Amino acid sequence: MRRHLLTLRALERPQIEALLDAAQAYADDGGRSRPALAGRPVATLFYEPSTRTEMSFELAAARLGAVVLRCDVDHSSVRKGESLVDTARTFEALGAEVLVIRHPASGAPALASRHVEASVINAGDGMHEHPTQGLLDLLTVRQIKGRLEGLRVAIVGDVLHSRVARSAAWGFTKLGARVILTGPATLLPSASPVPGAGMTSSLDEALEGADVVMTLRMQMERQAGGFVPSLAEYARGFGITDAALARARSDAILMHPGPANLGVEVSLDAAYGARSVISRQVENGVFIRMAALEWVVGRMETRRPSTVERHKALDDMAQVAG
Ligand code: CP
Repeated sequence: MRRHLLTLRALERPQIEALLDAAQAYADDGGRSRPALAGRPVATLFYEPSTRTEMSFELAAARLGAVVLRCDVDHSSVRKGESLVDTARTFEALGAEVLVIRHPASGAPALASRHVEASVINAGDGMHEHPTQGLLDLLTVRQIKGRLEGLRVAIVGDVLHSRVARSAAWGFTKLGARVILTGPATLLPSASPVPGAGMTSSLDEALEGADVVMTLRMQMERQAGGFVPSLAEYARGFGITDAALARARSDAILMHPGPANLGVEVSLDAAYGARSVISRQVENGVFIRMAALEWVVGRMETRRPSTVERHKALDDMAQVAG
């Protein structure tokens, strides 16, 4: 069954767990190549810059044997005014079975999904969601902590503009963790975007007892200015340093989706320190995207025919996400 992966908001716990389990299976065998998508075209359409997401989707597709059609947007007919929908339909006409779309406009991948038969994966849309980032964050914490249920996760920084924060908050909350969103009041939404996730402008309150500290990139490209007096003052108030981490649990881990503004939302020492799992997040991105690609084209479950419960969860997921 063909599906889209547009948000974590639309997925239920068993469905998220099925994707994590599939990704973990890839991690366990080192992401070895397999021919699940042999010869099948997968298109990547990135209307915003990316290193981790785009490269890991390409690597994931290659490991599954797919043919990657990379749309270099700045040198494509988008520059001549071709719309997103027309571009998506063009790649579909070229044979693409999956369209991986990053776009500055919230809802752009969902719009494209309504005009094509191909599966659409949201690779980050505006200030809305970044579901595969959320999944790789969940996988990383589950690997290191052995569970998600009952953990306390502090998400720190530019929550207002962050699609990463939204997907992470949905994912962690659905899997039983307690999420606290924090940042300067000017960079917090007026109400928590995720029911069940707390929100405070006190960093101390958020860090108290935290098992996971996720600091967010300051989204300069989405800030018209005036959100913080200066980056230096932001760093003094909300930058995550070794001293700030000492206010969390002694075994707390540090996450950042990347790319990091070192010295702003996170210090170099903390980002490269013993508590940092930033590189693990990047590594897990490949496994999550292998699972996501297989899932949207309806191949993930046929590879593991014995997991009857997973089949049902995935079919339920298709109805919710479809
Ligand atoms: N985390 C993330 O989306 O990074 P990229 O912008 O490099 O893809």
